[in-house]
Amino acid sequence: MRVLVTGGAGFIGANFVQQTVHERPEVDVTVLDALTYAGDRRSLDPVADRITFVEGSITDAALVDRLVGESDLVVHFAAESHNDNSLDDPSPFVQTNLIGTFTLLEAVRKHGVRFHHISTDEVYGDLELDDPDRFTPETPYNPSSPYSSTKAGSDLLVRAWVRSFGLQATISNCSNNYGPYQHVEKFIPRQITNLIDGVRPKLYGAGLNVRDWIHVEDHNAAVWAIVDKGRAGETYLIGADGEKDNLGVVRTLLEIFGREPDDFEHVNDRPGHDLRYAIDASKLREELGWTPRYTDFRAGLEATVEWYRANEDWWRPRKAAVEAKYAAQGQ
Ligand code: NAD
Ligand code: DAU
Repeated sequence: MRVLVTGGAGFIGANFVQQTVHERPEVDVTVLDALTYAGDRRSLDPVADRITFVEGSITDAALVDRLVGESDLVVHFAAESHNDNSLDDPSPFVQTNLIGTFTLLEAVRKHGVRFHHISTDEVYGDLELDDPDRFTPETPYNPSSPYSSTKAGSDLLVRAWVRSFGLQATISNCSNNYGPYQHVEKFIPRQITNLIDGVRPKLYGAGLNVRDWIHVEDHNAAVWAIVDKGRAGETYLIGADGEKDNLGVVRTLLEIFGREPDDFEHVNDRPGHDLRYAIDASKLREELGWTPRYTDFRAGLEATVEWYRANEDWWRPRKAAVEAKYAAQGQ
């Protein structure tokens, strides 16, 4: 099987490529990645001699057409992924998340290639802290930020291509991932690398916002379960019952680093900050038999801390610029 992985030099995509090479040696992997600020070829170093890497954009119709025409399956991770950046400049989000997904859809339609679209739980908006409900595939779309609205738009394009053109496609909407190779702009790596540097973690607002954490390897195992056994045209929600408020995550990290529980700073909140995400993944569990392996969040976090301690060369070059950008916003 020949698989084209878009965004394979990013956080989740690079973990997906590494897992695929190790667990499915029969799969022939090609990565298409534009190597934006978020992409890093070094994340693919452990498998570099076993994959084909193409530097280019998913908005390049001729390139996409050629690569899709040589594939049996496309797994589409490429995106602008950071909410804070989308508040600063939405333009690349519209280009990559909407135009890029459209460009891929036209190519898979032409060549009759199976397509899996990676999306986010943020398309459903947010929940109150005390809401007994969680997101399901039937929850109405209600995105809040330029990032989540472009992801919602890309999901709707996929659904329309399924209905109108009979595309063989599936969609997954996953909650917040953590694990190795995540960019230091994101919450958990930012706090881990701050703590390694002896800097206090930074909490947006009161820190009461809730995210539903899942280890990146569990996300990627679910993606393969959907590709292998999912029904075309269906949407599957991926989550591992990992709801935690941001303050709780920071306190766990402080404990891992042997620091006092209140040794953090409150900084400016994110405008429009979604309060809570929570996933009901029963369709994925019951229909496809998927279960997460990383059920102990603290243990997963400790392993992630160890990875950042051991891979300072990987994250250090980006840290100062990320912190300068946050500092300019009072964050
Ligand atoms: P990331 O920002 O770490 O990586 C994105 C990758 O896409 C980078 O390698 C970047 O170079 C590449 N890219 C960006 N624009 C491109 C373009 N025009 N053409 C080709 N490549 C391009 O993102 P991530 O956290 O790994 O997220 C991957 C996917 O998973 C995204 O679609 C995101 O919406 C989705 N998702 C992320 C999370 C999460 O917690 N990180 C949760 C649910 C869903
Ligand atoms: O829910 C899935 C989404 O999770 C993905 O679609 C996105 O691509 C991914 O970036 C993530 O979005 P969030 O906005 O939830 O992630 P982020 O890491 O930016 O922030 C997580 C929470 O932590 C959020 O409530 C904001 C808060 N935060 C973030 C940073 C960077 C802080 O309190 N302090 C910080 O320094």
